[in-house]
Amino acid sequence: MNVYDGWRIAAMLTHHGLTQTDNIPDADIIILNTCAVRAKATDKVFSALGRIRRAKKPSALFGIVGCVAREAGSDAFRRIPDLNFVLGPQSYHKLPEILKDPDTKLLNIDLGGLEKFDELPQMTHSPSVAYIPIQEGCNHVCTYCIVPYTRGRELSRPYADVIRDTIHAAKTGAIEICFLGQNVNGYKYTDENGKLFRLSDLIRETAKIPEIMRIRFTSSYPTEMTDDLIDMFKSEQKLLPFLNMPIQSGAQNVLKRMNRPYSLELYCDIIHKLKIARPDIQISSDFIVGFPGETDEDFEQTMKIAEQIKYINSYSFKYSPRPHTAAALMPDQIPENIKSERLAKLDSYLNSVQRAFNESCIDKTLECLLEGPDKTGKHLVYRTPYMQQCIVPTPTDGTAPKLAQIKITAANKASLRGTLE
Ligand code: 5AD
Ligand code: SF4
Repeated sequence: MNVYDGWRIAAMLTHHGLTQTDNIPDADIIILNTCAVRAKATDKVFSALGRIRRAKKPSALFGIVGCVAREAGSDAFRRIPDLNFVLGPQSYHKLPEILKDPDTKLLNIDLGGLEKFDELPQMTHSPSVAYIPIQEGCNHVCTYCIVPYTRGRELSRPYADVIRDTIHAAKTGAIEICFLGQNVNGYKYTDENGKLFRLSDLIRETAKIPEIMRIRFTSSYPTEMTDDLIDMFKSEQKLLPFLNMPIQSGAQNVLKRMNRPYSLELYCDIIHKLKIARPDIQISSDFIVGFPGETDEDFEQTMKIAEQIKYINSYSFKYSPRPHTAAALMPDQIPENIKSERLAKLDSYLNSVQRAFNESCIDKTLECLLEGPDKTGKHLVYRTPYMQQCIVPTPTDGTAPKLAQIKITAANKASLRGTLE
């Protein structure tokens, strides 16, 4: 979502006649889009702002947007007095106001509206993929997570707006739609006639659009994986056979203290149902190690569930205490060296599964979507249905289909290589 916000900010300013540069001394406006989910990124923000301040030309405007902006609020101006703007994750559409009046200090960290999605034009890394935000914020209140504070309570966008944006994306070149939300499968919208729309309704409607060939959504909360949504994996072949459904921990008592009150049996049962609906489905997860009170035995349970489910792609993190969260105040915080040891062990296992899955793709033909040329221009980057990166030589005649059958010839942990069929 944060990366997506960055694209939208770039698109909005492009719309206002600006062009992008990565070179700070050239820039007339410098925007640091920030993430507060773990301390490491947050800790770097103010030193980065200090560096920007020294490197920028004196007249250039600079400021922060995103979750750290919301977290810091007016304190950011106290720490760096010449900062021009501090805008939270739901108010960055107000950024052009600073262009109109560069002498003001723009502060807006309010929550509660998704107007930003109405006002801003689209732009992504690839013309073939459209990210469509459908929901923002989260009502789950996991005890480690700052998101309910920074992005607020869950809000779902009107169904008609999402369909309108999806059709627009299809007409302007999108082949793949990715629905976005912190709790995307919790999408619920009731229209003025009292009709309830869920994510399964959005998928069914989107699948009818002829230009759209691939549909996915991220990120999913286990208990929102209702049967209507599981059925979509059976009935809608355009829905990719890949799902990010974070488990976070394999120990029931840790999940309880995380305020993720699903049973491991239920989680495994959902995966079982998904595999029945779509036998080739693969799952990815997020993990947190070293949550307060996590014992060696609890950690072994996490290893066990990882071994059982064989996630093909995962993100794992050391628990990071965050302000405004209950877990930061829990006793039995785990020492850093133990967190590091557990993370290394889990990562090593997850990487070996990812590599094995990538290797299992060799000699298979996968339908892949073109993302664009690589840095050298000698290769093209495609994405498989499982979101693996697949590199192919650029055809000598310069033509390359957007959606291509690719024979996989080699694999490592990070990517695949192949040839166009
Ligand atoms: N510490 C470590 N990881 C966290 N995440 C969220 N909050 C924290 C935290 N305090 C992870 C979760 C989530 C992902 C986006 O970030 O695994 O799924
Ligand atoms: Fe944070 Fe995700 Fe839990 Fe919501 S479901 S509180 S976004 S970790």
